[in-house]
Formats: sequence, structure tokens, C-alpha cells
Amino acid sequence: MEKYEKVKEILKKNNQEQLLVCYDKLDDQGKEKLLDQILNVDFDLINKLFENTKKPVDVGEDKIEPIEYVDKSKLSKEEYKKLKQIGEDAIKEGKLAVLTMAGGQGTRLGYNGPKGTFDIGLDTHESLFELICKPIKNANKKYGITIPWYIMTSNENNKETVEFFEKNNYFGYPKQDIIFFIQGELPMLDKEGKILVNEQGFLKLAADGHGGVFESMLKSGALKDMNDKKIKWVFIGPVDNPLVNMVDPIFIGVAETKKCMAAGKSVVKARPEERVGVFCKRNSKPSVVEYTEISEEMSNKRDANGELVFGESHINCNLFNIDRINEIAANKLPYHEAFKKANYIDKNGNLVIADKPNAYKFEAFIFDAFQSMESMAVMRVKREEEFAPVKNAEGVDSPETARELYINFHKKLEKVRTQEMG
Ligand code: UTP
Repeated sequence: MEKYEKVKEILKKNNQEQLLVCYDKLDDQGKEKLLDQILNVDFDLINKLFENTKKPVDVGEDKIEPIEYVDKSKLSKEEYKKLKQIGEDAIKEGKLAVLTMAGGQGTRLGYNGPKGTFDIGLDTHESLFELICKPIKNANKKYGITIPWYIMTSNENNKETVEFFEKNNYFGYPKQDIIFFIQGELPMLDKEGKILVNEQGFLKLAADGHGGVFESMLKSGALKDMNDKKIKWVFIGPVDNPLVNMVDPIFIGVAETKKCMAAGKSVVKARPEERVGVFCKRNSKPSVVEYTEISEEMSNKRDANGELVFGESHINCNLFNIDRINEIAANKLPYHEAFKKANYIDKNGNLVIADKPNAYKFEAFIFDAFQSMESMAVMRVKREEEFAPVKNAEGVDSPETARELYINFHKKLEKVRTQEMG
């Protein structure tokens, strides 16, 4: 009872009393869970986030400039050899860990299940998880080690994801070297700043974005595990790109030789008006600028070689030095709000079905971490070799386009192998 009174007081103070609307209907366990959920809410943060929704997003003052990049396909034979050696040495010494961000909801794909379990329609019917696991397994064989593979899930999909791995015998990967951890969540708010109640009578929580990866690595113990294993570089990539190249010695070599604490892979923007974020320098620090933030003139600007000045798309494939992850994880990244559709129980206990966006969701973006770097190595890779995003159910960046890219890339690889053997 004491706990209940304490919660009531906190809710009154923060004007969030609607959160107990279903309390009486819950069983004892449910009541306890709801009270604990409320006690875990950082109301100062929630109030601040709500205040921020009223402020216009202001990017006008930022100084946006192009960033230098290395084109992987244009390295000389000597440079390539040198970088490869550096990267391979680091991998063989067990300095690399790979991390897959698999906590997203995959709303645009509209698939009912963790995105990593999705079958893009190959003859083999391999899931995205299996497809991205294969190159790590090949690297393990090549370098005679086992690279630890960290997988970030969400509260929503963790159980299903772990069960999928178990059912598939971890795709032949050593079970002890796959480490799952759950990302953080934040409450969703209505237009008045009230935290929503979900259909079960609890708080309506949503994953806190891919930028939540650092904080959840710290809170879950995954980061400690990496530090204990003396990992130096962590490749952090998405679950929804079957061509993701997580074990890339050249990428490590570039970061090492440029003495950067992070590196990001880019692909050339397909066309100036493509709706993607591009690498840039923001107030002299590495950053990603969204297509909405730059003018048409900037999007179209080309250099003397005819290349787009802001043409290096961020593909969510980044490498971070563990020392910098330790620092970033201890400091919160900013949250960005999105206005989404969310069903909820209103203050009278009635279910409200949303037919249009009605609620704020707060997400951190991984690239906001770049702003804490003095410099960052950007490495341009070939779209057809490393980027087959699965975002939408149909059309661009869909299972169909990803499948085609995947098949073509592997056909090409096979041809090269046959030529080498012949
Ligand atoms: P996206 O931002 O494209 O989101 O994720 P999504 O959830 O896959 O799809 P939509 O926007 O709902 O349609 C890019 C990568 O970041 C991960 C995703 O799983 C994907 O690998 N991610 C995203 C998380 O791990 N957590 C999040 O909170 C958001």
C-alpha cells in the first residue's frame, strides 16, 4: 500500500494520474508490475521531452560542410594490401566484435515478427539473421577465431528472437559467442503530454531508437563483456541489410591509419533528391544531415569531378572504438520525436483506436554519437556489394529489390572464385 501511495503522489505531482486507470482491474502481479513501471519513469526527462515537442526543429544555425571520404574501390594495390594487413591482424588478435541492431519495429515492412526472422524469398528461404550470420562464420573460419556477435533486441521481440535462434541451432554459430541484450524504452505521450496506457493497462512504451544502443550496451552488461574480452573495435550494423559486411579488414585498417575513434561506411546517393541522410561536417564535427535539412541547391551541388558534394549516404554500418563507446554510453544522446498512431486506454477506461497519428514516440539516433568525435573516417563502398536494405513491403528497398541485389552479388562472387580457381 505504501508503494501505491508513493506512486499516486508522484503521478499527482507530474499530472499523470491517468496511469492508474486500469489498476483495480489488474491481478496482484499486474498491480506490482504497473507500480514498478511508474517508479522507473524519469519524469523530469519526460517533461523535458514534451516541452521540446513544442519547439520548432532549428537547424538554420548549423554550419554544414562536406566531409572527406576514402573510396574503397579506388585504393591502390599497395594501400589496399597495407590496410588489409592492419585489419586482419586486429581481427586475428580478437579485437573485433560485431553488433546487430534488431530492436526496430519494422513498421514499413508490415511483417508480424522480428525483422531478422523475415524470409526475403531466396530459394533457400534463409532468414535475414541467417544471411547476415554466414559471412561472420566464414570470417571465423578464415581467421581461426570466433568473433563475438552481440544482438540488440527490444522488449517486444526479444523472446521470439531468442527462440528463433534456438530453433535454428544458432545457425551453427557457437552459442556462447552470441550475446543478446534488450534495448531501452520510453513512454509514448499524447498531444497534451500525458503518458499513454496500453491495452493491457500498463504504460505504453516504445523502443528508444537505434541510438539507444550505447546506453543499453552499458545497462545490460554487454559493454562490460566487450571490455573484459579486450575488444577494441565494435562494428554496429542493421538487421535489415542482407549484404551487410560486418567483418571488413579494410574498414578497420582505414579507421586505424586515420587514427579515428569511429568510421562509417557510405554509398553514393542514387540521385540528388534521394531521401537519405548523408555524412557531413556539422559545426566542424562529423555528422549526418537529413535530406530535409539541406536545400535543393546543396543536394545538387557537384565538385570538379562531377561527384555530389553531399553524396555519401549513411547506411547505418559504423565502426566504433570501445574507448569512445564507454564514453558515449555514459552520456545520453538527444532524443528526436516522431508523431505516430497508437491505440490506448483513455482516462475513463475506454479503448481508443487511432486512425491517424496521435502520439509522440522518442528515439535516439546512432549518428548523433558522431558529434562527439574530433574526426571520423568515412569509407565509400559499392552499393551493389554492401547495401540491400529491406524497408518497405513493396517498391524501393523492398524484399524484391534486396533479393535481386543479394543474388546478383553472390553470382558475381561465384564468378570471381571460379576464375581464381581456373
Ligand atoms: P529503421 O530506423 O529503418 O527502423 O532501423 P525499422 O524499425 O527497421 O523500420 P520502420 O522504420 O519501423 O519501418 C534501422 C536499424 O535499426 C534498428 C532496426 O532493427 C534496423 O536494424 N533499430 C531501429 C533498433 O534496433 N532499435 C530501434 O529502436 C530502431
